Amino acid sequence: MHTIRIEASRSYDVTVGSGLLQECGRRIRAMTEAEHAFVVSDGTVFVQYGRTVMERLQGAGFLVSHYVFPQGEKSKNLQTYGELMEWMCSRRLTRNDVVVALGGGVVGDLAGFAAATYARGMDLVQLPTTLLSAVDSSVGGKTAVDLNAGKNMAGAFHQPMLVLCDTDTFRTLPEEQLRNGFAEVVKYAVLGSEELFRDLKDIPSGDRLEDVIARCVSMKRDYVARDEFDRGLRALLNLGHTFGHAAETCSSYSLLHGEAVSMGMAAILRACSVRGICSPETADSVVELLDSYGLPTQIPYGLAEMSRAVLSDKKRSGSRLTLVVPERIGCCRTEIIDADDVSGWLKDGGVT
Ligand code: NAD
Ligand code: GLY
Repeated sequence: MHTIRIEASRSYDVTVGSGLLQECGRRIRAMTEAEHAFVVSDGTVFVQYGRTVMERLQGAGFLVSHYVFPQGEKSKNLQTYGELMEWMCSRRLTRNDVVVALGGGVVGDLAGFAAATYARGMDLVQLPTTLLSAVDSSVGGKTAVDLNAGKNMAGAFHQPMLVLCDTDTFRTLPEEQLRNGFAEVVKYAVLGSEELFRDLKDIPSGDRLEDVIARCVSMKRDYVARDEFDRGLRALLNLGHTFGHAAETCSSYSLLHGEAVSMGMAAILRACSVRGICSPETADSVVELLDSYGLPTQIPYGLAEMSRAVLSDKKRSGSRLTLVVPERIGCCRTEIIDADDVSGWLKDGGVT
């Protein structure tokens, strides 16, 4: 078991280990006197773990209700958000109650945005059940839904009061979803840890995976502590995401987020190698590692389509755009480019 303390406008613990869902009622009760715990989940996760969580919350003295929506990114939209908020009203939730997000990043982002906005803000507990949500989305307070114009375009910063990552839940996680999470794990290694990069050459499982998650969360902690509201340094966490989000938009969200990040990371590394920012060996070693996890490394969409999607991304500011560029494994920096140069970068990244 590992516990990492996140220092932010609201500070909280992220605990990673086996058996945590069984203890969630007791652990959440220790944090709040709320009367009502409102569990938000998707259909797939709720079937697996909903009952355990509801029973444990009831056992800890909460009045419990729930809202379950169809799994997948296509649910992370204003319509589901509106229905969820109406449902919360119908359950007579107050701002003193607590929202419990049980699931992956889609559940965490949607339930988090509801918790941020319902009655001007409620407490939130994240119970991540995917590797991706464990290492990234459940930590740091970014919550959002997608708009037609782009991913995560409506959202808020809202830190949880507790994150419990029960690694037993990964036993039911489909292989492709585990791979999806490893894309973000590789991202952390490229961003800030050559040692982690080396360790990832053997695919971690069991205790090693728990340790890897804790190392990723600790790295995220450092970015969040120094730049909670994403005004500068935290942008580094977007390594691979500028082109990745664009690929996700081009796929109409049929690509998994991690697949898109993997393609985006490979593309930016290739472009950096062409432009002399990193060595060809650095680019090749990342592409090889992503390949070894079965992750895609080539963006399958055309240059015009990708350029349009990159330019509509919310990370753009006016006619300029910030890219995260790796110089070597464990060392990245930001580079501000003109919107006019986007297609050149994409071309160098292998997009035709
Ligand atoms: P997800 O929540 O859609 O989960 C992936 C799939 O796995 C779903 O079908 C889900 O039902 C299923 N699943 C989840 N846990 C399971 C389990 N234990 N056993 C069996 N099936 C399980 O996707 P995700 O990859 O976890 O998250 C992606 C989302 O996270 C995207 O919307 C992305 O934008 C967001 N995100 C947010 C942040 C942030 O900082 N807020 C960071 C990264 C990603
Ligand atoms: N996933 C990027 C961030 O939390 O800033």
